[in-house]
Amino acid sequence: MDILLLGPPGAGKGTQAAHIRERHGLLHLSTGDMLRSAVARGTPAGLAAREIMNCGGLVSDDIIIGMIAERLDQPDARGGAIFDGFPRTPLQAEALDQLLAAKGRGINHVIELVVDAAALVDRVSGRFTCGTCNAGYHDRHQRPAEEGICDHCGGDRFTRRPDDNAATVATRLAEYEAKTAPILPYYAARGLVRKLDGMAAIESVSQAVDAILDPASASICEPVVS
Ligand code: AP5
Repeated sequence: MDILLLGPPGAGKGTQAAHIRERHGLLHLSTGDMLRSAVARGTPAGLAAREIMNCGGLVSDDIIIGMIAERLDQPDARGGAIFDGFPRTPLQAEALDQLLAAKGRGINHVIELVVDAAALVDRVSGRFTCGTCNAGYHDRHQRPAEEGICDHCGGDRFTRRPDDNAATVATRLAEYEAKTAPILPYYAARGLVRKLDGMAAIESVSQAVDAILDPASASICEPVVS
């Protein structure tokens, strides 16, 4: 199964991708994480991407498509993936279709997380991540059960992203509206898009995601999905 998670910065794509990975056993492919890893390793792609990311712009389609093409050729990507933060432009959307078609696959679900713009800055500026296993947290909405200790790996070192500040979030949001939101009709025309209320509590959004991916297991009390 191949799933796209779409939504503006801070919509909860990474949070829900982690849930889908754990609950449904799919590979999580985040182009943002891949780029941050490339920056940390100082690769040519990372060096080209670093300043653009820090300013909130989009990295070039060539770099991103090359990175995803290479990743999809690896054995652990054979069973499908959750694409988080990709595609982000019409060219990336077409490239993904071609890459999957060459493997006899196609996108099964596009999940759009809809969140009020006003909430995004709060979400992004309160976010922090485990420096060991990359699990995501938030100062108010998602704290570790034990203060200072990661719920998932027991690590005690946390990091914050350099692009998680109000000015950069405004640019990232503008980039989303101008370049990424226009790809939604491309998928809607194929009946693939499901819109979820990303303002709901994390667990409620996860239940709505489960209802899409595994309708048989959904409770009749789960949140309505349009
Ligand atoms: P990327 O890493 O993809 O960042 P983004 O799209 O801006 O998304 P975020 O990771 O900020 O947010 P998210 O939706 O995953 O939210 P999260 O779950 O963490 O990209 C970074 C940069 O890399 C881009 O700006 C660009 O430069 C470059 N890039 C990446 N991909 C690219 C591509 N394909 N093409 C070109 N350039 C590319 O949640 C945020 C916080 O909110 C967390 O703290 C979480 O705990 C909390 N939260 C989540 N859900 C809820 C909820 N329902 N209620 C309350 N709090 C919640």
